[in-house]
Amino acid sequence: MSPFQLTRTLAENAAGAALRADVRHGLTRTPKELPPKWFYDARGSELFEEITRLPEYYPTRAEREIIVARASQVAAATGARTLVELGSGSSEKTRHLIDALLPDLAAYVPVDVSQSALEGAGRALLAERPGLLVHALVADFTGGLTLPDTPGPRLVAFLGGTIGNLPPAERREFLRAIRGMLAPGDALLLGTDLVKDEATLVAAYDDAAGVTAAFNKNVLAVIDRELGADAHPEDFDHVALWDREHEWIEMRLRARHPLTVKIPELNLVVPFGAGEELRTEISAKFRQDGVRAELAAAGLRLAHWWTDEAGRFALSLATAD
Ligand code: AVJ
Repeated sequence: MSPFQLTRTLAENAAGAALRADVRHGLTRTPKELPPKWFYDARGSELFEEITRLPEYYPTRAEREIIVARASQVAAATGARTLVELGSGSSEKTRHLIDALLPDLAAYVPVDVSQSALEGAGRALLAERPGLLVHALVADFTGGLTLPDTPGPRLVAFLGGTIGNLPPAERREFLRAIRGMLAPGDALLLGTDLVKDEATLVAAYDDAAGVTAAFNKNVLAVIDRELGADAHPEDFDHVALWDREHEWIEMRLRARHPLTVKIPELNLVVPFGAGEELRTEISAKFRQDGVRAELAAAGLRLAHWWTDEAGRFALSLATAD
């Protein structure tokens, strides 16, 4: 059996249908809104990788610091023989985890909507670790997941703080679905960005070099290319603000003047008033009590809480028991 397997649980056209539905729904409601998953075409994924290297964007470095410091504790606490990673992308931080879990680790199961990311990351990993089985899943993990039949115990990792991109009701559902994938003795490793001073948070989403602005505007390029639309990035301003009531960052695109966006593939013309905003992302920030409570509501027990030295980001290990 080849040590690299790939299973598609997403139809080739599923993404196209979902994009149409999200754009039609999100651009005909008030206030206008699009889900953040549409940032990540090849260009958007490249821009995100660039964001992770910006001086203002601390979450990736902070989480890597925690993983490097705590990987052996994660391995000792879980004894995992299968590591499932949701939204694995480049699998860069996960390498440290994999190396700590070896030699007991039998399988790494990266799950992502991007087949090209999975193939690139999977083959790079295997080149260095010939014994490991990599069973990649092309799937939208916000639905339910059927995992390959690999040995337990299982550790499911959801890193990067991406859980913060889901609004609270969807987070509840999502954590429930994860709980449903776990058997007694399995565990969840969850990365969450933490509440901190507003200036630090806003700078992380509005960097001086303008990379996050380009990332935000990339969703317009996706709509233009995929749906034949005529949105122009230069007609919009990048907005990042801290919502202190909900404790989340919001990214928006603000129309600089009255305009219309024609979307021929949807037979739709979308008017924007001057200054009208389109919400493109929420990125919730957490506190330990909130994370513990959200995990508990899904039937998961917070067993370890680790932060980086500066206390900016947290990694939680939760058990299904
Ligand atoms: C990797 C999805 C968690 O919300 O911080 C980075 C994405 N958006 N800059 C985040 C993102 C703007 C990122 N996540």
